[in-house]
Amino acid sequence: MTEFDAVWLNANLATMQAGSEPYGAITDAAIAVKDGRIAWLGPKSELPAFDALSTPLYDVQGQWLMPGLIDCHTHLVYGGNRANEFEMRLQGASYEAIAKAGGGIRSTVKATREASAEQLFVLGKDRLNALLSQGVTEVEIKSGYGLDLASEQKMLQVARELAVHHPIRIHTTFLGAHALPPEFSDSDAYIDYLCQTMLPELHRQQLVDAVDVFCEGIGFSVEQSRRLFQTATALGLPVKAHAEQLSNLGGSALVAEFGGLSADHIEYLDEAGVQAMAKAGTVAVLLPGAFYFLKETKKPPIELLRRYQVPMAIATDLNPGTSPLCNLPLMLNMACTFFALTPEEALLGVTRHAATALGIRDAGTLAIGNKADFGCYAISQPAELVYQQGVNSLRQLVVNGMPVVI
Ligand code: NIG
Ligand code: FE
Repeated sequence: MTEFDAVWLNANLATMQAGSEPYGAITDAAIAVKDGRIAWLGPKSELPAFDALSTPLYDVQGQWLMPGLIDCHTHLVYGGNRANEFEMRLQGASYEAIAKAGGGIRSTVKATREASAEQLFVLGKDRLNALLSQGVTEVEIKSGYGLDLASEQKMLQVARELAVHHPIRIHTTFLGAHALPPEFSDSDAYIDYLCQTMLPELHRQQLVDAVDVFCEGIGFSVEQSRRLFQTATALGLPVKAHAEQLSNLGGSALVAEFGGLSADHIEYLDEAGVQAMAKAGTVAVLLPGAFYFLKETKKPPIELLRRYQVPMAIATDLNPGTSPLCNLPLMLNMACTFFALTPEEALLGVTRHAATALGIRDAGTLAIGNKADFGCYAISQPAELVYQQGVNSLRQLVVNGMPVVI
């Protein structure tokens, strides 16, 4: 008899694997876990014999099981908030004008520097709890509101600490190149400091899983981004960028040139950039929350991304300035309403393609050998998760093969 640690029966599985069925669906199915991994899945009628008396069984009565959702772009460790800037923008001030006047990212830098690690931990934990209750099991967290060694270190340590105490799995990203800190007037000198001192030191402390840059007129140039990527690559770290958000500088093609994980935002991405990403296998991360909150009108080139088969991920971009929206299901809905993704594309964007955007191979789909992370939803079809907002249909969340408290 086959040995399992637990078995879920009478399930419908949205495996999100590629294949002939939409959502990789298997109806009337079962799924079994062993040692934190998916040990078996398929039609219930084919479930191998196992000891049904001693194995925990969950009869989910036709619920849909989805891979644990993955939020592959967040800035969820930060101090303070920017409700005042929200009010200013509602009265007509632009995001760029507020940033140039010393607000924007810099105001969150001040609040984050002033916050203790304990305060940041509590704030981060609340945000992670919200995501967990939505079925999220894996999250990327960026630094970038410290912009000096001690404060960037504090943010990344808090992210690592959250990983120890929270069921959600966490991937850290160094975003020292987010804005020019007040101590520097020369952005080239700051990039030198990041390359020579900050990044190597934080890497030495094993706080960095990937390296990001804000490649933009109000951020850093393509040449500066290239220097940072060279340092990251020499350290063996994968790269990604906030690119083509407000203008078309070519940051996405640069990520592709380095074989990077993802180019994120990409509203202004052109065909050459899409082609470069397709060739490199770089994921397009769509951030409809920031598009909505900044009242942008330029939409990412979805048709081109489809045509060149660039995988599209969707994330919250949770941050105090452009997306104070701690809600991944809402992003699914917005990706469809604003960017005309199909519900299936949207769900792939927070599962299989989000995993690729983080360089993860054993999550994002329900497949034998993958981490046993999945949610059980009381819905009649997967598109419901995208369609309805505000009512939580998540009935059980499983991480590492074990139900967690949500
Ligand atoms: O992803 N674009 C730069 N970074 C963030 C905004 C950060 C902020 O305004 O605090 C983003 O949109
Ligand atoms: Fe961001």
